[in-house]
Amino acid sequence: MIKFTAVSLVRTKVEMLAVPVCEDTTIHEDPQIQALIASATALEEFKAEDKQEVMLYHPAETKVQRCLCMGMGKRRKLSAETLRSFAGRAVQAAIKARRSNLVIAVPQAETVGLELQTMAQAIMEGALLANDVFDAYKEKSKDKPLKEIALRTVPAASKSLAGLVAKTETICSSTLLARHWINTPSNRKVPAQLAQMVTTEARKAGLAINTLSEAKLKQQHFGALLAVAAGSSHPPCLLELRYAPKGARKTIVLVGKGVTFDTGGISLKQSSGMDAMKGDMSGAAAVAAALIAAAQLKPRHRIIGIMPMVENMPSGTATRPGDIVTSYAGKTVEIGNTDAEGRLILIDAMAYAVKKYKPDVMIDLATLTGACVVALGEKIAAVFSKDDELAKTVAASGEAVYERCWPMPLAEDYKELLKSDYADISNMPSTRYGGAITAALFLSEFVGETRWAHIDIAGPAFGKKNGDYCGPGGTGFGVRLLCDLIEKL
Ligand code: BES
Ligand code: MN
Ligand code: ZN
Repeated sequence: MIKFTAVSLVRTKVEMLAVPVCEDTTIHEDPQIQALIASATALEEFKAEDKQEVMLYHPAETKVQRCLCMGMGKRRKLSAETLRSFAGRAVQAAIKARRSNLVIAVPQAETVGLELQTMAQAIMEGALLANDVFDAYKEKSKDKPLKEIALRTVPAASKSLAGLVAKTETICSSTLLARHWINTPSNRKVPAQLAQMVTTEARKAGLAINTLSEAKLKQQHFGALLAVAAGSSHPPCLLELRYAPKGARKTIVLVGKGVTFDTGGISLKQSSGMDAMKGDMSGAAAVAAALIAAAQLKPRHRIIGIMPMVENMPSGTATRPGDIVTSYAGKTVEIGNTDAEGRLILIDAMAYAVKKYKPDVMIDLATLTGACVVALGEKIAAVFSKDDELAKTVAASGEAVYERCWPMPLAEDYKELLKSDYADISNMPSTRYGGAITAALFLSEFVGETRWAHIDIAGPAFGKKNGDYCGPGGTGFGVRLLCDLIEKL
């Protein structure tokens, strides 16, 4: 679907070509591209300022039908992320122009100031991630994804990049899977359905699969998880995916919050914006997609994905505020607030994972707290770990793929905010201040000595508007991060 080309613009017909242009320097070495840029900047209205665009139709002396020149501003503003955005906007424009293919002019790496690999991967990612239309629930869809995207480079560059194509396609198609699961409405993804959708893809990828049904969860005393599911008429489940290469030395467990819809339960949420709570399984979606990518990328470690799936509903059978349950680990939890449900399903899933797999590293991803969104906004996740080195590695991966994770403290002295008068611990802190921290501290009580990091993705997992290479809804945040992190661990 994506390929490299050195096609001549003079001899070969090109339906649509997208060219990034800087306002202060030439970033292309190819004279054919330089000539196109010269005719664009000859127009008064195009100065190549950031986000400025001009379309040239049938530029002279070429066989190009449409040339979209896209302003990038000053050269020093260029980065992997601005190029990812450029490629995303180019693909969106081609889709809107009803094209089925697009050629993207790749600038010269040295002038841009990036490694060729880094730059090419960023452009491919932006293009592939933007080339998606979620229309499963529309009778007639207007937009169609492109059939082919070609990156135009000098011939020497295209040779050295061949290996990168398959890897980037795998990572991006997995990210799109996660987005699709998140965008699926909650009436079509109750726990059994979500598990089924994921299982179908996991089977294709060749992963080992194990599902714990409600009966099994009862037998094995997943008390906290079951308390969240109690109000729903749709039974919970816990899905396990395994990738186990021969001779693996380390075991990495990834745990993802899979609340298929979060009403808050008896501690009912306010109605405005509640529809976004279909995205409360974004952690599970990211973990599942990362496992599917791993099956193709074949990292050297054993990777286990654990996804507890439940629906949080109020009803006559729902858990009440004040109820006390016994968690999988044996500790009792007073459920002060049924809307703090994510931490309840995660502690059982993580205690189970620690007991069963004794992981060298465990990472959980969860849309866990509104407080985290207040702290870091809608684009940045929080990372918590007692192991500073692990937190740094997570943050470094986040920086590399532009899924940013900011380190936050697991302040021991805040633990007293989780004291319960009746049980070992309360799921509801005694103050709303520091809510992302107290949630992380709650989780920390159930991971034992495991080297563990918690990533609160409540901000960046889901949005009404998500930027240049992501449509509305799920972002798939975490998939690219986890793929990168697995390589670094
Ligand atoms: N799923 C929510 C957190 C959330 C909020 C995710 C906004 C995405 C956007 C979580 O289950 C929740 O309700 N958390 C409560 C915890 C509180 C009751 C201690 C919260 O953040 O208000
Ligand atoms: Mn909640
Ligand atoms: Zn939730």
